[in-house]
This record gives sequence, structure tokens and C-alpha cells, in this order.
Amino acid sequence: MRILSGIQPTGELHIGNYLGATKNWAELQAKHDCFFMIADLHALTTPQNPKEFSKTTLSKFIELLAVGLNPEKCIIFIQSHIKEHAELAWIFSTLTSLSELERMTQFKDKAKKQHTNINAGLLTYPTLMAADILLYKTQGVPVGKDQTQHLELTRTIAKKFNSTYGKVFWEPETLLVKEGAKIMSLAQPLKKMSKSDTEESSIGVFEEAQSIQKKIQRAVTDAGKEIKYDPTKKPGISNLLTIYSLFSDESLSQAEKRFKGKEYSVFKKALADLLVKKLEPLRKKKEKLESRELYVQEILHQGRERAQSIAAATMEEVREKIGLLKA
Ligand code: TYM
Repeated sequence: MRILSGIQPTGELHIGNYLGATKNWAELQAKHDCFFMIADLHALTTPQNPKEFSKTTLSKFIELLAVGLNPEKCIIFIQSHIKEHAELAWIFSTLTSLSELERMTQFKDKAKKQHTNINAGLLTYPTLMAADILLYKTQGVPVGKDQTQHLELTRTIAKKFNSTYGKVFWEPETLLVKEGAKIMSLAQPLKKMSKSDTEESSIGVFEEAQSIQKKIQRAVTDAGKEIKYDPTKKPGISNLLTIYSLFSDESLSQAEKRFKGKEYSVFKKALADLLVKKLEPLRKKKEKLESRELYVQEILHQGRERAQSIAAATMEEVREKIGLLKA
């Protein structure tokens, strides 16, 4: 299966991104034809500091390598390096109605959050995302739950293009992980863990041990004493149990059994220890990669070349189907 997914470069990679997406990407690359990209153009919908932005993008690229993406098994690239993304997004914007875009919950949320900067890019974001995906004739897209609406629209756009101009694109499936597709905030367990939220609401994949311990200790729990998976009545504990289960590879019921009759504080200590143990090797790997500049540049270059040839071939087909005059 041809698979593609992406992540924005800004904000720290947190355990929500990891459990909902990137950990799964590292597993998928062994069996499928995988493409993973840093969505730097998407990040411009929120103002970025030009002096920092390229460093942020490179750093996210390194982080993806550190969490297990292997350039021998998948193609990793930077969205803005392949100009066809923006070109195809324009064509898709002519096939997408305003009402379809205005309906997107991410647009509504972001428009509320940055109400003094509701730029057109915030609205047309999903047409660029559809271009990212369809350009590579992708069949499966592994993402967290918050991206499912964008993927529905991607399928609608593929259908619309194919019926208007003739078949070029697949209608890709959404690949959600069974558990972890929506990791919640540690401070407000009814909200998803998010890069743009407060410090104490999320744990970074590359965070220091002390800080992880502190954040888990402070994580909001629920009334009562029982350590039980019940997202409606016990959203805080259920979120922590989900995180425990995914990092320990124990099922939720095994994890519940392990902590039956124990105090919240005992569970939290065990969870913090587990996170420190599992995340430490990733942090070390990131540090090592940061000192291997030439190697990283080589992978960047290789990813770009491989993605470029596929993107160019699809765009050629698109131009021909639409009837754009050949250059
Ligand atoms: P982004 O950068 O917000 O997030 C990257 C991935 O992490 C998932 N995720 C979560 N999963 C579980 N629990 C959470 N709390 C959580 N928070 C984030 C996201 O669902 C995502 O899979 N628009 C995309 C980037 C993108 C893209 C693409 C994705 C651009 N083009 C093409 C797929 C295909 C985004 O902003 O993801």
C-alpha cells in the first residue's frame, strides 16, 4: 500500500503526536511504500519567525529520524521542497466549495484562537493537505483522530477531480491506531493534547526526566480512588492508563489489574518511570543525529529527489487531463 502522512514543524513533538501518529509510521514503513513529510507550508497559517523557521523545520526532520523513521525504508521530505504541492492545491481549491471549507472544525477552532489573523490559508488548508496526499497517489493515511475530517474532504476532492477530468487519484483510507488516536491534555483531560496549549498539558517526546516526572505528578486526575478505564466518568485516569498501556505494550485491562487497589500516586510514579525509560533512548538518538549534519543533509537531499520525481509525474498527468497548454 502507498502511504503518506505529515506533521507540522512547529511546537515540540509530544506524546500525543507520537502515540497517535509517528510511532505507527515507524511500524508501517516495514511493510508499506511510505512517504512522510514535514508540513512547513501548513505552518505558515500561523505567523512564524523567519529567523527561526528553517531551524525548526530541520529540527522536526531530525526528530522524525529519532523516533524511528528509517530513510532506507521510507521517503522523508520537506513539503515546500516540492513545488507541486502548492500547484495542485490551487487546482483543488477550484473544485472545493467555500461551504465545505467553512464546515471544517479545525478551521473554526483556529479562527477562534487567532481571531485577529483569520487568513485565507487557514480556510484553504485542507486543499493543500489533499494535494500532499493525492500527489503521491496515496492509498492510506495514518493520522490521529483530529485529522479525519480533512481526510473525508480529501476523498471528496479526489472523487470530484476524477469525475470532472478523468481518473488520476485514489480515494485514500484513514488509518487510525486502535488506541491512542486521541491522547488528551494532562491539564484538561476533556481536551486533546495539543502543541499550542500550555506547557503542563503535554509531555514532549524529548523532554528531560525531571520535567516528565513533575508533569505526571501534577496531571489532573478524577474524583474517587479507583484506577479504572472509564473515559466518561474518569477521563483523567483513563488518559493516563491509555498512555501507560501504549508505552508498556500491556493491554488496558492488564494495566488496570496491575494497579488494582493502588493509590493514584503509586500509579503516577510508575507511569513517570515508564515514560522516562522509554523516551530516554529517543532523546539520546536525537542528540546524536544533531551532531551528524552531513548525514542529515544527505537524507534531506535523497528524500527530496525521490518525492520530486513522483510528484512531477502526477502533475504532468493532471495538467494533461485538465487541458493546460504544454510549456
Ligand atoms: P499535526 O502536526 O497537528 O499532528 C501530527 C500528527 O499527530 C496527530 N496528533 C495526535 N494524535 C493523538 N492524540 C493527540 N492529542 C494528537 N495531536 C496530534 C495528528 O492527528 C497528526 O496525525 N494537518 C496535519 C499535517 C499534515 C498532514 C498532511 C497529515 C499536513 N499534510 C497530509 C497527513 C497527510 C497536522 O497539522 O498534523
